[in-house]
Amino acid sequence: MTEQKTLRSQRWLAREDFRTFNHRSRFMQMGYDRKDWEGKPIVAILNSWSEFNPCHMHFRQRVDDVKRGVLQSGGFPLELPVLSLNDALIKPSALLYRNMLAMEVEEMIRCHPVDAAVLMGGCDKTTPAMLLGAISSDIPTVFLPAGPMLRGNSRGKTLGSGSDAFKFWDERRAGTISEAEWEGVISGIARSPGTCMTMGTASTMTAIAEALGMALPGASSIPAVDAAHQRMSVQAGRRIVEMVHEDLRPTQILSREAFLNAIAVAMAMGCSTNAIIHIIALARRAGRMDVGLDDFDRLSRQVPVLANIRPNGTSQYLMEDFYYAGGLPALMNRLSSFLHLDEKTVSGGSVGSNIEDAQVYNDDVIRSVETAVYAEGSLAVLKGNLAPDGCVIKPSAMSAKFLRHSGTAVVFDDYPSLKAMLDDPDADITEDDVIVLRNAGPKGGPGMPEWGMIPVPLKLVRQGVRDMLRISDARMSGTSYGACVLHVAPEAYIGGNLALVRTGDTITIDVPARSIHLDVGDEELARRRAQWQAPPPRFERGYGKMFIEHILQADQGCDMDFLTTQAGASAGDPDI
Ligand code: FES
Repeated sequence: MTEQKTLRSQRWLAREDFRTFNHRSRFMQMGYDRKDWEGKPIVAILNSWSEFNPCHMHFRQRVDDVKRGVLQSGGFPLELPVLSLNDALIKPSALLYRNMLAMEVEEMIRCHPVDAAVLMGGCDKTTPAMLLGAISSDIPTVFLPAGPMLRGNSRGKTLGSGSDAFKFWDERRAGTISEAEWEGVISGIARSPGTCMTMGTASTMTAIAEALGMALPGASSIPAVDAAHQRMSVQAGRRIVEMVHEDLRPTQILSREAFLNAIAVAMAMGCSTNAIIHIIALARRAGRMDVGLDDFDRLSRQVPVLANIRPNGTSQYLMEDFYYAGGLPALMNRLSSFLHLDEKTVSGGSVGSNIEDAQVYNDDVIRSVETAVYAEGSLAVLKGNLAPDGCVIKPSAMSAKFLRHSGTAVVFDDYPSLKAMLDDPDADITEDDVIVLRNAGPKGGPGMPEWGMIPVPLKLVRQGVRDMLRISDARMSGTSYGACVLHVAPEAYIGGNLALVRTGDTITIDVPARSIHLDVGDEELARRRAQWQAPPPRFERGYGKMFIEHILQADQGCDMDFLTTQAGASAGDPDI
């Protein structure tokens, strides 16, 4: 069989019938010549650029670099715009739309004459979203990370995305900085294209894409505006065409071991808590239903945090420093003993061959196992009667005194009532209390808004308090920090025990023992359950209604139930 007959796009373009007449005719309408496509892999470049997405501003130019690489390798590149999700601008949560973008990517690939895809993403949820869709499509795919923005700067001080916004907001509330300083933070904290440059969800997820083998070696660490980012984009274009000839598809790369590599790398990076939800969703799409919370907790106990990047550690280092220190291949080289080195990657080489020559150029930024920032991994999964299906905390970015803590619950059913307490200078709360926010989970939020890093109440901020125990079924930004228990499952909105907590109850967490306990007896909990009523839905129509009806819980990755591999076969490729 000739290569031309094996290309998926030829079903649209090569046969002699009325349908293909139309397809060829419409290609010609766009000025394409037969020589552009005949016998050539058609590469869709899925570009999540928009004028509402500062993290992807450079994609408008970068897509031309990808095209250059595709043409060099004998492919035919065509840009395909897709939904652009900017985490900072979308209310209430970009997670609400992760699955919408995933569906769009899957369906746009499925319905077009496409042999391979380059995914241009990076801002938080765009990375998992695009990978989810590509996994379900299962055509050769390379993920092209947007790259982090440059370090923030104001008045000679380095600023980190998110982390410094939270920090300076507390100082402003405490009255310790001037309006001019605050304005300097606003204008200086994000000053170039690219994704948040702390170890937030964006940096975590693009590193995970690379560790999974879905991005070129080193691609995720290159700053968005570095010329190396352009060259990497050209290489991605060249490589995707080769992958078509090799028929190298995501499901051949995404083994259980590849996901274990991703989890180990996430832990060593001091990852965002959001990584748990996204990795589980990706694994389930790839048919790896055996990847779950237990893998995270086991690896978190084994893998040390090596990346000394804010908000972890005590340094001021950011992703730009990480790149200069050698980037992800250098970190993975130091992590080799925890990795499965034979796994395939989009480079055509194995994980081991990709990282064997990588060197660390700054031992303080990328630590060794012996000098780790944090001896254990960055996340801990807690279980107990308050979270029978698990919840998550980030010990590497919280005050150690809350690792074992008992306190009195102060409970809020929604964010507005919580906010009223937070802003009340006379609020009835102490630093030993436990703030509980509920109805902010996958269905209750909906979309688990990043409300989990509940600000310390104004009254306590003025007393100098900067951390306290907070519990919710929400998420928090990867750039956040503090003693915040997140992702409580099952969530309150569907009647999880979180819905039954009352102000005055005692809650105990023991992070070393991985436990969380509500000190209320089973009989009393049953009595409260009988009185409990589900809150009204926040969406009664449209995508929000569909989302609430089909979203899975946090411990299952928050995918739609009808999108998981187990939901059944897709429609397949059109053949008419
Ligand atoms: Fe885009 Fe942070 S807002 S990565």
